[in-house]
Amino acid sequence: MNRFLNGWFRKKQQDGMTTRTAASESSRDGNDLSPTDIPRHVAIIMDGNGRWAKARGLPRIAGHHNGMKTVKRITQAADRLGVRYLTLYAFSTENWKRPKAEVEFLMKLPQEFLSLELDELMRNNVRVRMMGVRELLPDFTLAAVEEAVRKTENNTGLVLNFALNYGSRMEMVESARQLARRAASGEIDPNDISEADFSAGLLSCELPDPDLLIRTSGELRLSNFMLWQLAYSEFWFTDVYWPEFSEAHFHEAIREYQRRARRYGGL
Ligand code: IPE
Ligand code: IPE
Ligand code: MG
Repeated sequence: MNRFLNGWFRKKQQDGMTTRTAASESSRDGNDLSPTDIPRHVAIIMDGNGRWAKARGLPRIAGHHNGMKTVKRITQAADRLGVRYLTLYAFSTENWKRPKAEVEFLMKLPQEFLSLELDELMRNNVRVRMMGVRELLPDFTLAAVEEAVRKTENNTGLVLNFALNYGSRMEMVESARQLARRAASGEIDPNDISEADFSAGLLSCELPDPDLLIRTSGELRLSNFMLWQLAYSEFWFTDVYWPEFSEAHFHEAIREYQRRARRYGGL
């Protein structure tokens, strides 16, 4: 290669390097994301707390505790991007099968999280909501969540929806029961029951369907989460454990979402 070409080549390489650095910086803060295509509703299966702790020789509850910091981080990130609804799967109707001590610890987390974060959530105009069955939840857990729901009910910003003691099959059976009762009493004709009627009986009735579902920790399943509502959502999975899930990972999910073509069966 002659001197001229060599110089040109080196210059090109340097340009390439600067471009790449600039791009990775802007992708870190999410500036490269299209503001007109931010998913309105993001739902997350926050998984991998236990494995995160185990990998560090810590008890599983240390993973849950650290996962709480991720809840704060991702709530702020979603809010900054203009996501309207953020649903977080915090405890499933099947999680009662876990050892008593772990369940007890998990039941204390909403209270701890809200005592630390409620003021900031208020300042950021966030509205807290709960999606789940109240039965079986300890009084102190329910009281903490209800206080947050009440205090934030007039906020008009991000809706932070905690799926707590939530199970999708259970909620669908419950919606079917409600419709069956109304049909049996003659209030409605079974032939008139619509998809909207069924949706209206679900715990998510006030929310639009999720646009994007994220699951952390490498598991590729729904674990009884929003089976009806996710019919046309985009799915994004990562091997990252929930306590390590960062704002940059969240942006990565949204970047991928923005590359997808949602067709809803059409063309
Ligand atoms: C998610 O982490 C939190 C809850 C299900 C409550 P896990 O506790 O399921 O963590 P892993 O999957 O065992 O690593
Ligand atoms: C799903 O995770 C429930 C929550 C994240 C709250 P699990 O860890 O309970 O799911 P499985 O047991 O691996 O399917
Ligand atoms: Mg798990």
